[in-house]
Amino acid sequence: MTDFKQIVEQIQMTGPDSMPNLKAYPTALELIGTGRSAFAFRILESSLVIKVFFPAFQHIAAEEAAIYQTLAASHYFPDLHDAGQNYLVIDYIPGYTLYDCLRKGIPIQDHHIVEIEHALRFAAAQGLNPSDIHLRNILITPTGDIRLIDPARFRQQKQCTQWKDLHIAYEKLYKKKIFPKKIPSILLELIAYLYKKRKSFTVQAPPNKAIR
Ligand SMILES: Nc1ncnc2c1ncn2[C@@H]1O[C@H](COP(=O)(O)OP(=O)(O)OP(=O)(O)O)[C@@H](O)[C@H]1O
Ligand SMILES: [Mg+2]
Repeated sequence: MTDFKQIVEQIQMTGPDSMPNLKAYPTALELIGTGRSAFAFRILESSLVIKVFFPAFQHIAAEEAAIYQTLAASHYFPDLHDAGQNYLVIDYIPGYTLYDCLRKGIPIQDHHIVEIEHALRFAAAQGLNPSDIHLRNILITPTGDIRLIDPARFRQQKQCTQWKDLHIAYEKLYKKKIFPKKIPSILLELIAYLYKKRKSFTVQAPPNKAIR
């Protein structure tokens, strides 16, 4: 069996613990993504990904591993193959994130949205609270299937409206004929920035009455 721990030990990061730079990593790995808490590497010639958490976020590894185990019966989520103090090994999902789809003009269709809803309903049925469902955590595979990654926040108590908001944006904007299907990254980043800013100014009010 592959010694994933030994591979992870060869990954070197420098700089701040909460936002390090990648200094070196084994040639058997390909960097496929950088999130707010981890680097994701594909293990070449395999269908596996090693997600290595930044030093400040190592504690998330155990939490995310436990949640993947809860979701193990669903094909909407990658299988978990191994977990260590600061890393997870999960299935590699080929295809594009919804963020990439918008950037490249790859159409997002009603059946994708229906599948995402199924995945979230499955998670909720396992007693989880699907959260942090954003464009980079949802992938469309080459066969048009949906996969969700990064469920680390699925056990949080706080209600997260990101998917609800994305779903509304899909129905009310994206589906309109005049809405551009290909959007430059800079504009996507600006929209994400403005969305986060607006959310941080939202004062929590009694149920269903958020004051904006
Ligand atoms: N199993 C996978 N298959 C394909 N791509 C992946 C996989 N895991 C991660 N990625 C890519 O790497 C990126 C970062 O991974 P991930 O979302 O797990 O990191 P994170 O730090 O938890 O992210 P966030 O900023 O959403 O908290 C993803 O957006 C995706 O593009
Ligand atoms: Mg992510």
